Amino acid sequence: MAPTSTICDVRNRKDSDSDEDELKYLSIPTKPVTKRRFGPLVVIFVGLPGRGKTVLAHKLERYLTWTNKVAKVFSVSSYRRKHIESYDSHNLFRIDNLEAVEIRQLSIHEAQEDATKWLNSNGEIAIIDGPHTTQAIRQNAYDHFCKESGFQVLFVECICDDEELLENNEKEMLQFSQDYCQMSAEKASIDFHYKIEHYKEQYESMDAKIESDFSFIKVFNGGQNMLVHHLSGPLSREVLHFISCFKPTQKTYYFSRHGESEFNTLGKIGGDTNLSARGRLYAAALARYFNETNIDGLHVWTSEKKRTKQTAQDINAAKEHISALNELDAGVCEELSYEEMQEQYPQEFAWRDQDKLRYRYPWGESYIDIMNRLKPVLTELECENNLLVISHQAVLRCILGYFLNKRLDELPYINVPLHTIIKLTTYGYKYKMEVIKLNVDCVDTYRKQPQNCSVTRMAEDALKTVPAHFDNMNPWIRSGHLIQQH
Ligand code: F6P
Repeated sequence: MAPTSTICDVRNRKDSDSDEDELKYLSIPTKPVTKRRFGPLVVIFVGLPGRGKTVLAHKLERYLTWTNKVAKVFSVSSYRRKHIESYDSHNLFRIDNLEAVEIRQLSIHEAQEDATKWLNSNGEIAIIDGPHTTQAIRQNAYDHFCKESGFQVLFVECICDDEELLENNEKEMLQFSQDYCQMSAEKASIDFHYKIEHYKEQYESMDAKIESDFSFIKVFNGGQNMLVHHLSGPLSREVLHFISCFKPTQKTYYFSRHGESEFNTLGKIGGDTNLSARGRLYAAALARYFNETNIDGLHVWTSEKKRTKQTAQDINAAKEHISALNELDAGVCEELSYEEMQEQYPQEFAWRDQDKLRYRYPWGESYIDIMNRLKPVLTELECENNLLVISHQAVLRCILGYFLNKRLDELPYINVPLHTIIKLTTYGYKYKMEVIKLNVDCVDTYRKQPQNCSVTRMAEDALKTVPAHFDNMNPWIRSGHLIQQH
């Protein structure tokens, strides 16, 4: 085993050691290069074009950001585009095109420099999206990030020979890559195949014998199989976890809050009440929508609360009830209206308005807490398609914030109205959102952040943005009064 310090080794040496041995001892470095397990991580993508690297890189960035890490993608081709404004043809990728080789090397170098600066300021995980197809390029990257800067490095190689996946990847590439936006589809496809051939000429897949010191993950056919080599450290394990769950297929998700509940009509939060009469109408309309649309393999996840189960009950699909989808636990404020909260806990109410994301109800939860319990749900969502999630206002804000790449502080104010389906469909590494309003009346439960969030504010200021609600349940039957703040 390599000694770790000069003092220790000199002390431990035997009297019979020769001068030559002494010299050997003294030349032992006092500061051995140890691999860091904590601290900044650089994830370096490897693989031929059209292997799904870019989609995975961006989804990884989104997931890590959502888990409150500071992550950023550095795309080598964006640096290349700064030097070569308009893409002409695959000739740019020939190995004998020395001028272009130089530009591509420069682009890698610039991406590495920027990533290093960013990690040295406040970054935690830099994701370098590029082909890194040769051992020499990877060794250089490793030396740059690990040996010179002391960052952890994890290579992720995407390998794919599944025809269907390759076809899908090519379609996405041609649709979304800036290189091809000015070319006809036919010309672009031919050009893309030539480009792959040029890369194949130089491609060396990662080799555990030659690159034995490197940490790497090989992802075969979009995660069907994986090989993990020398992985260490919590950030690398988090990356592995996400990659092992992610499936790069076209996906459609549907999200809905439960139908209006009895508590919603009264403006009360939390609890476990039944649907109101209007909520039951929404449940029927929702079931009609999904039963008539006949979505292939549709299944439904709900929370464990009565109001989400009742909302799902008439939909013809397999259902699962998941406690992680339960609404924010408001602790001592459960079953109170915002007005009652202001009356009984004015300071808590103000603190929540000051930082709704981080504020934790006494004996209850914060948005950050919900996000933590939602992590396994999200990674499972990444493997699903044609799934309807029926949950609650705060929980759906967190899930939608993830898919729509919202800043964390924006999450608690995303508007997710009752009686509305939100449909998300993959679009490259992003999602297209459609809002489908089913025509059933309901109260509004959206409370904007008030202007005055001070603990010394007047009740009137605290309640200014409280949405209207009724003073008794099923008001349209028993003619309840609408309570409106001014
Ligand atoms: O009002 C409905 C509700 O789902 C409550 O049960 C929950 O406490 C609240 O929304 C969460 O919304 P906000 O964070 O805006 O108070």
